[in-house]
Amino acid sequence: MSTTPTLTALQVMQDAPVIPVIVLNDVAHAVPIARALVAGGVRMLEVTLRTPQALACMEAIAKEVPEAVVGAGTVRTKADAQAAAMAGARFAVSPGYTSAVGQACRDNGLALLPGVATGSEIMMAQQDGYTELKFFPAMQAGGPAMLKAWSGPFFDVKFCPTGGVTLQNASEFLALPNVVCVGGSWLVPADAMARGEWSRITQLARDTLALRK
Ligand code: 3PG
Repeated sequence: MSTTPTLTALQVMQDAPVIPVIVLNDVAHAVPIARALVAGGVRMLEVTLRTPQALACMEAIAKEVPEAVVGAGTVRTKADAQAAAMAGARFAVSPGYTSAVGQACRDNGLALLPGVATGSEIMMAQQDGYTELKFFPAMQAGGPAMLKAWSGPFFDVKFCPTGGVTLQNASEFLALPNVVCVGGSWLVPADAMARGEWSRITQLARDTLALRK
């Protein structure tokens, strides 16, 4: 049985120029970081499923920061999608794409941004109905030049490049017609987190809004 997602991948991508990729090791950091990002105008938050605390962090944000929309990053399996949805995630981001992950996200009401790095992967995702994709790892896999090359054959696909994107090179990606937003971890630096410098995170979020196309 499939549940209709309350959110679409395009809505997730259009909310701000950047989707922050957040790696959390401490549940106590989750809510202050989410509030800091929301205060800076960034509401779609990708919490990566790569630490033991990730699900508890998603739960805390979903419960305590209603202005934020929490999503799960690093979703690779059906179990990841189920656990993320249970923890309150409303969208999922995957580093690659399989039909099984697509199905699991649909079954659990999660909008999905599937990761792709090749033309064949784009075609597989398109075959399953996905036209908004994450280009990962963006800089390592060809950067803006790759997206320009894809704009010909994949004229109907929109991308969120992620991986190696920074405040400095984000504008080059965002200027491309087939890019809606970028993803990146630079909004939540590990040292800012360790020192509890939440206002610095708010400022980084504000700086990214200036990138809006
Ligand atoms: C990731 O999944 O780690 C993201 O692609 C973040 O990459 P970045 O740290 O280069 O922004």
